[in-house]
Amino acid sequence: MNKIAVERTKRSRIDSVDFNNLAFGSVFADHMLVCDYKNGQWGAPKITPYQSMELDPSAKIFHYGQSIFEGMKAYKDDEGGVWLFRPEENQRRLNISAKRLAMPELPKEIFMEGLVTLLQIDRDWVPRKEGSSLYVRPFMFASGKGFHASPADEFRFMIALAPSGPYFSGKVSVLIEERYSRAANGGVGFAKAGGNYAAQFYPTQLAVEKGYNQIIWTDDNTHEYIEEAGAMNIFIRINDTLITAPTNDRILDGITRKSILDIAADMGIETEVRKIAVAEVIEAAKDGSLKEMFGAGTAAVVSPISSFGYKEVDYDLPELGKSYATILKKRITDIQYNRGEDKFGWRFRVV
Ligand code: PLP
Ligand code: COI
Repeated sequence: MNKIAVERTKRSRIDSVDFNNLAFGSVFADHMLVCDYKNGQWGAPKITPYQSMELDPSAKIFHYGQSIFEGMKAYKDDEGGVWLFRPEENQRRLNISAKRLAMPELPKEIFMEGLVTLLQIDRDWVPRKEGSSLYVRPFMFASGKGFHASPADEFRFMIALAPSGPYFSGKVSVLIEERYSRAANGGVGFAKAGGNYAAQFYPTQLAVEKGYNQIIWTDDNTHEYIEEAGAMNIFIRINDTLITAPTNDRILDGITRKSILDIAADMGIETEVRKIAVAEVIEAAKDGSLKEMFGAGTAAVVSPISSFGYKEVDYDLPELGKSYATILKKRITDIQYNRGEDKFGWRFRVV
C-alpha cells in the first residue's frame, strides 16, 4: 500500500480537553481515517481533521442499518510508549461482521496501516492517567444510495479516536432478562452490527427504570441460559471455578473474554466454557457457592457485578478481598499498559 495521505488539522483542540476528567467516548481526537469503497474496490485511505460529513438522505445506512464497528484501546506506558492490545483480532472480527452484513471485507493492510498511522499522528491524545486510554473506534457503513432493500454498492470505512476514562464506575446491578433477546439463532449476534446495540436499548431502559444498570442476556429460545452481560461477555465464579458461556452465533467472540480464559488457565484458575443455566446460578447464590459475576469487554475490561435480579428477587454477591475480577483485571491491564510480562505476545507497539 502507498503511504497514507494526511491532511493535518490547522488548529489542534487538545488544549481544550481536561484529561483528568474524561468520560467515555465523548470527546474526539484531532484526526480521523476515511476509506471509501466504490465500483467494487477500496480506494486509498486518507487521514483528515476530525469533522462532520455529508451523506445522501437515501444512503442505506439510514434505512437498512448496514453498519458494523469495532472497539479497541491504545494505552500509554510510563515512558510515553503507545500500545494496542491484539489489534489483529479486531481486524479479523471486522471482516467476520462485514461478511454477515453483506458488506465488503476490508484488506488487512488498510486496517492496520491506517490504524497505526492515525495513532502516530494523534499519539498526544492517548491519556496517561491510570484507567484512562484512547478508545479506538473503527467502523464501516453503507454510504451507497437508494431505497431498494438490498446491499449498498458504496461503503465507507473510518477510524475515530476518543480519549476516555473508565466505562463504568460504581456498583453494577443487573437484571436477568426473561422476555427480550439481544440475538437469535441464525441472526447477527456474533457480529458487531450497529443494530444489535439499538435493539438492546429499549429492554435496558426498562431494566434501568426498575433500578438496574444492565441486563444479563439469556438465550432467545428458553431464556434459561445466561449468554452475555449488556455489551460484554460474562464470567461467573462458582466456588473456585470460572465459567463463561461458549460462543455461538448469538454471542460476540470477545477478545477480552478469550484473553481472560488464557490468563486464568495460565494462573492455575480452573475455567469451564459451557452453558450456564440461570437455575444453577440461583441455586449457587442461595447456597453461597456463587462468588463472583463480572462482565468482560474492551471498554470496561472487567466489570464486577454486585447484585442481580431475577423474577422479582434480588441477590447480592459477596464482596471479596482478592476477587478473580481484581486479579485478572490487574494481569490484563499490566499487559495493556506495558507494565507486566507479555507471555502471550498480545502487546502491539504503535510508537
Ligand atoms: N459482547 C458484546 C455484545 C460486545 O459488544 C462486546 C464489546 O466489544 C463484547 C462482548 C466484548 O468484546 P471485546 O472483549 O472484544 O471488546
Ligand atoms: C466493549 O468494549 O465492551 C463494548 O461493548 C463497547 C461498547 C461501547 C459498545
